[in-house]
Amino acid sequence: MSRWSIFVTAKMPDYVERDIAAAFDATFNTTGEKLTQEQVLKGLEGKDALFGGVGVKMDAAFMDKLPSSVKALGTYSVGFDHVDIAAAKAKGMPVFNTPDVLTDTVAECAMLLTLGVARRVTESVALMADWKGWTPLQLNGMEVAGKTMGIFGFGRIGRAIADRARAFKMNIAYSDMNKFSPDLEQGAIYYKDPAELMAHCDILILACNSTPETRGFLNRERLAKMRPTAIVVNIARGDIVNDDALIEALSQNKIMGAGLDVFNNEPNFDPRYKTLPNAFILPHIGSSTVEARRRMGQILIEGLLAFKDGKPARNRLA
Ligand code: DGY
Repeated sequence: MSRWSIFVTAKMPDYVERDIAAAFDATFNTTGEKLTQEQVLKGLEGKDALFGGVGVKMDAAFMDKLPSSVKALGTYSVGFDHVDIAAAKAKGMPVFNTPDVLTDTVAECAMLLTLGVARRVTESVALMADWKGWTPLQLNGMEVAGKTMGIFGFGRIGRAIADRARAFKMNIAYSDMNKFSPDLEQGAIYYKDPAELMAHCDILILACNSTPETRGFLNRERLAKMRPTAIVVNIARGDIVNDDALIEALSQNKIMGAGLDVFNNEPNFDPRYKTLPNAFILPHIGSSTVEARRRMGQILIEGLLAFKDGKPARNRLA
């Protein structure tokens, strides 16, 4: 069977590009620039599949305009809020993503954010510019041992964060649409109502998918349920958070702090976060390790090749 020709929409790490080139006749976006929808559609002319897609909105209009040669879409991400899955299904257009392979990397980032806020890293780094020396008062943070981590969204990533938090002697609680089986809970306390979770936890981790139900979840009303010593961590998607509400809570010390890897309107995130000493902010690096990036490429290649050969793929979304 002949090789597929694919269009790779984003500049990939060299080792991923090598894996792609070994599997497909690939046209790479070598510019490093983010392509517009129109540029992507043009690049797809005569191609069998799209590879990449983070930053490319694949909405119903995009699906309608896809060249007839295109047989599959692969998004180099586990999140698929930028893809209209219903529209893809309606078109009979298969979509593949990168589940499982970045779980450990993202969970590590959640711990980094948790500890970064608890130990006041933003203020500590700033202080090093003119440090006058150790004092008992200097930047007293919060010990996480014995505290309760509340995880909103107890899927693969949420549970992987729980595994790490247990090693830090934290208690685990969670909220999700349904209660999980005891083997997956491993003693975690279930709150059906997320507001209850928020009232009972010290560290709230947002690890849910971005869906119409979760968008804007962290609003003023829900933040008001949290303890004044609480920490919020977002490794999910920016749109889970109402920025005005969170910034108000941070600037008025209604909570201790927030660790954020994802933002509304990336990369043009709300600049007020940059001025808040109790915000520890990262540029969406949750899945950015060499190990995860390589595996993300491999699983996407596997999914597209399996589909091409008429075989099932574990990472097919539509
Ligand atoms: C993911 O894989 O969803 C990462 O957040 C990159 O978008």
